Amino acid sequence: MVWEYLQPVRIRFGNGLIACLSEEIRHLGRHRGLLVTSPSFVYRGVAGKIKEACNGCLDGTFSNVSPNPDVTECDACAEQLRAGGYDFVVALGGGSVIDLAKAAAMICLTSDSIADYLDTGRVLPEARLPLIAIPTTAGTGSEITDVSVLSDHVRRLKVPLKSASLYPVVAIVDPELTYSLPPHLTASTGFDVLSHAIEAYWSLHHQPVCDALAVHAAGLVLRYLKAAFEEPLSAVAREKMAEASVMAGLAFTLPRTTSVHACSYPLTNLLGIPHGEACALTLDRFIRLNAAGCERVEALARLLGYAGSGALADAVVSLKHVTGMRCDLCDFHLSDEQLNELVLGSQHPNLRNNPIEITPDMLRELYVSLR
Ligand SMILES: NC(=O)c1ccc[n+]([C@@H]2O[C@H](COP(=O)([O-])OP(=O)(O)OC[C@H]3O[C@@H](n4cnc5c(N)ncnc54)[C@H](O)[C@@H]3O)[C@@H](O)[C@H]2O)c1
Ligand SMILES: [Zn+2]
Repeated sequence: MVWEYLQPVRIRFGNGLIACLSEEIRHLGRHRGLLVTSPSFVYRGVAGKIKEACNGCLDGTFSNVSPNPDVTECDACAEQLRAGGYDFVVALGGGSVIDLAKAAAMICLTSDSIADYLDTGRVLPEARLPLIAIPTTAGTGSEITDVSVLSDHVRRLKVPLKSASLYPVVAIVDPELTYSLPPHLTASTGFDVLSHAIEAYWSLHHQPVCDALAVHAAGLVLRYLKAAFEEPLSAVAREKMAEASVMAGLAFTLPRTTSVHACSYPLTNLLGIPHGEACALTLDRFIRLNAAGCERVEALARLLGYAGSGALADAVVSLKHVTGMRCDLCDFHLSDEQLNELVLGSQHPNLRNNPIEITPDMLRELYVSLR
């Protein structure tokens, strides 16, 4: 087996580590930073406090970021970076904020729109402003990946962009920042972590370093997600979920995600289901489907302490029930046309990383059974 492992992002992990942001900014040697965050961090005063602690180095804020950010929001952020002469970026938020900031930090050095790169095959630029990523969800792992997922709502697209220029310079992972996540978001983002870990393990591009990270991360989610959901202030559960999120991010960056994420994009784009919950919807289904043609699924289930892949899939279903994740699409009353759109939208390049071939007929059968 031939493999390579690379992880260029420095990771600082621990409760209260947000306090080291100004030190990290000093290391960058830059002087004029833009804080990219979501509106809730501005009105709760968190953004203001962080800026204050940075002694004037972070002097602007961009907070026009929606969940599943649109290319127009990314372009607006890039424009603020250009117009304000900023020389570095700090992203404080969930995957949506970090993804938008990563792409904006790159596109601001060009006169392009990020839409020019979405699903067009155009190669992303190499240059970008340095970015410090501070996650506030335990979910996407975006703070350490080379991926930025953006939507073009006009073209009805949600697409991951991938490039070495999308790696942040530093990730500051402070589990205390996730204490304010409400239970439903804790659950949804937690299932994103579990999907990253499981998909990394069974991806056709799996490799030993990422395997080890994936098993560790999946085990943590299966052990601590319920506690984080039920006790938002549980320091242990929050810390373990934050650890799982980073480890799963490291696990999937190189092997990439597969069928579960391929289906999540149209489920979010067409039906508005949050990213992690969209992953949760098909995760147990793909555990069973993939187990039929890939021995690694069985092996993973055993490594996680289950009798087999069926028991792992059952555990995922029961965790979904406990945490209030949707288990079907009944309440959407999907028309045949919507079903066709889901099948078409799920035929995403990530499907090619799946360990067994997933045909359009299999996707149709899956969505019919969820309808
Ligand atoms: N770049 C990657 O590698 C990668 C991987 C997987 C998913 N994604 C993408 O990331 C996005 C999802 O990110 P996400 O799941 O982190 O959610 P999100 O960033 O969309 O945030 C969801 C909501 O939670 C709020 N929120 C975030 N942190 C909070 C906190 N601590 N307290 C209270 N509210 C908080 C946000 O303001 C937002 O309203 C999707 O677009 C998904 O496709 C990216
Ligand atoms: Zn994901």
